[in-house]
Amino acid sequence: MRIIKKETYEELSRCAADMILAAVREKPECVLGLATGSTPIGTYDCLAAACREGKATFRQAKTINLDEYTGLGENDPQSYRFFMEEHLFRHIDIRRENTHIPNGLAPDAAEECKRYEALYERLGGIDLQLLGIGQNGHIGFNEPSRALEAGTHVVELSESTRIANSRNFASLSAVPHGAITLGMGGILKARRILLLASGEQKKEALRKAVHGKVDPEVPASFLQLHPDVTVICDFSLTL
Ligand code: PGA
Repeated sequence: MRIIKKETYEELSRCAADMILAAVREKPECVLGLATGSTPIGTYDCLAAACREGKATFRQAKTINLDEYTGLGENDPQSYRFFMEEHLFRHIDIRRENTHIPNGLAPDAAEECKRYEALYERLGGIDLQLLGIGQNGHIGFNEPSRALEAGTHVVELSESTRIANSRNFASLSAVPHGAITLGMGGILKARRILLLASGEQKKEALRKAVHGKVDPEVPASFLQLHPDVTVICDFSLTL
């Protein structure tokens, strides 16, 4: 793993955006694996600015997001489709049909997982996967568990994740209990991975992910098995 320490969230965001822009310039038709949450917002702002200023184009790029809450549709402001439109897609020149997020309203969630898995294969895998990390060590919605799933699956969100995410909802009870997420296999098959962690509250999770044992109770620790992971954080990982 390559660890890059930045002084501020702005520098972290700039650095992450530069890596993504380089990937798109090198391979305009690349497949980007994207994440939601507060961490990548600054990165998305930089990508939007680059596109606005004519320094980048996403015309041929494709995106596949990690996850979506079950029960939320794309017009729901809490859905991840809504988040991606708001923070990135409507600010760049990507084609809507080239952006992919699980359908949280699919009548049969198991079927939706199969569709998403097939889509992943059809896209030819992910060139660059952007990740955040949960305070509990999750990546995507692969929650700490005695065993992790490789494929796209329906997950019951942990209480700690629901509490962490409740800041975006009117109340904790409004936070969905489930989600559809790419599995660990889909993440680890990405050719390159870029993990962002901002704020001291992520320090312990990142320390375990980078320096701890590979442990399904810390899903991000499986990234140690991947040959091309870059971590960008805005705090020092040393004790
Ligand atoms: P955050 O979420 O960026 O909002 O902290 C990260 C995550 O839970 O993966």
